[in-house]
Amino acid sequence: MDVIRDNAAGRRQLAEARRAGHTIGLVPTMGYLHAGHMSLIERARRECDRVVVSIFVNPTQFGPGEDFERYPRDEARDFAMCEAAGTDWLYAPTVEQLYPHGPGTLVVPPEAITRSLCGAFRPGHFTGVATVVAKLFALWQPDRAYFGLKDFQQTAVIRRMADDMCFGVEVVLVPTRREPDGLAMSSRNVYLSSEERTKALAIPRALQAGWETARRPGVNPHDVLDTARSVLAAEPTLGVQYVELVDQDTLAPLEDLSRPGVLAVAAKVGATRLIDNTSLAGPAPLEQAGHDRLERLP
Ligand code: PAJ
Repeated sequence: MDVIRDNAAGRRQLAEARRAGHTIGLVPTMGYLHAGHMSLIERARRECDRVVVSIFVNPTQFGPGEDFERYPRDEARDFAMCEAAGTDWLYAPTVEQLYPHGPGTLVVPPEAITRSLCGAFRPGHFTGVATVVAKLFALWQPDRAYFGLKDFQQTAVIRRMADDMCFGVEVVLVPTRREPDGLAMSSRNVYLSSEERTKALAIPRALQAGWETARRPGVNPHDVLDTARSVLAAEPTLGVQYVELVDQDTLAPLEDLSRPGVLAVAAKVGATRLIDNTSLAGPAPLEQAGHDRLERLP
C-alpha cells in the first residue's frame, strides 16, 4: 500500500494505472475506520483493479461549534486496517493540499436536496461534502466511488453532484453495517458513555418499529412516523432533531407508502449527534444487525 500525501504523487500513480488499463475505485472517508468503512473498501476491492481510500477530516463540512477539532483520529490504526483490506493507495492529504486557497471555489448542491433532514440542522454542511467529494473525483477520476447508505442524504447529494458536474463516476451505495445490538456503526459512537450507548439503541428500535408498521395493511405514512416517534419519546433524554419519512428519490415527504420511502432519524445523545435511517422496501434494520452477527461466526 502506498501512502500518498501530495496531489502530484497521486497523479503520477493514477497515470501509470490508466496506462495499464486499470479501473479505479475510490472510497472517501474521514478516518477512524470501522466495519462500515471496511464494507465499502471490500466492495471496491472486489469490483476495481486499483482501490484508493482517502482519509481526510474535511473542515468545510463542519459548522461552527461542531466537532471538527475533536473528531476522532488514529492514523496508524486506519493505515493498518486499509492495508489489511487490500487498499492500493491511501490518500491522506493536508488541508493545504485540498484547499490551497482556503475554502475557495465551492460546489453548492441544489436546495431541493439539502433543505430537509440534516440539511435543515447543518447549514452549509452538504456544500462542504459536495465540494470535497468533487475535489476527490477530479483528482482520482475513479470509475466507481463507494458511499454508505447510513448517510442517506449525503448519497443523494453526491449522486446529483456527480451527474450535474459531468464526472461520469458510477456512485455505488453500500448498506449500513450495524453493531450486533442494532446501533449503526459510526466513528462518533466512540463519544458515547455506556449509559448513552444504551439510550442510543432507541434509534434503531424506532426504525425497526416504523419499518414493521409500514408492512401492516391499511396504514399510511403518518402511522409509520407516529410509531417511530413514540418509540423515541419513550427515551426522553434523547434530543430528537427530526424523524422524517421521505421519498427515496426526491427526498420530499412521502405521501404514499406505495412509493419507495426512507425513514430517517437524527438525535442528540448527550453532546453526540447520531443519524440513522432505513429503507421501508429493504430488509428490516435489526435483521441487518443479525446478518452481521452471522458473518462473524467462525
Ligand atoms: P465518514 O463519516 O468517515 O464515512 C465515510 C463513508 O463510510 C461514507 O460513505 C459513509 O456513509 C460510510 N459509512 C459510515 N458508517 C457506515 C456504516 N455503519 N455502514 C456503512 N457505511 C458507513 O461520510 C463521510 O465520512 C464524509 O462526509 C465524506 C464522504 C468522506 C466527505 O468528507
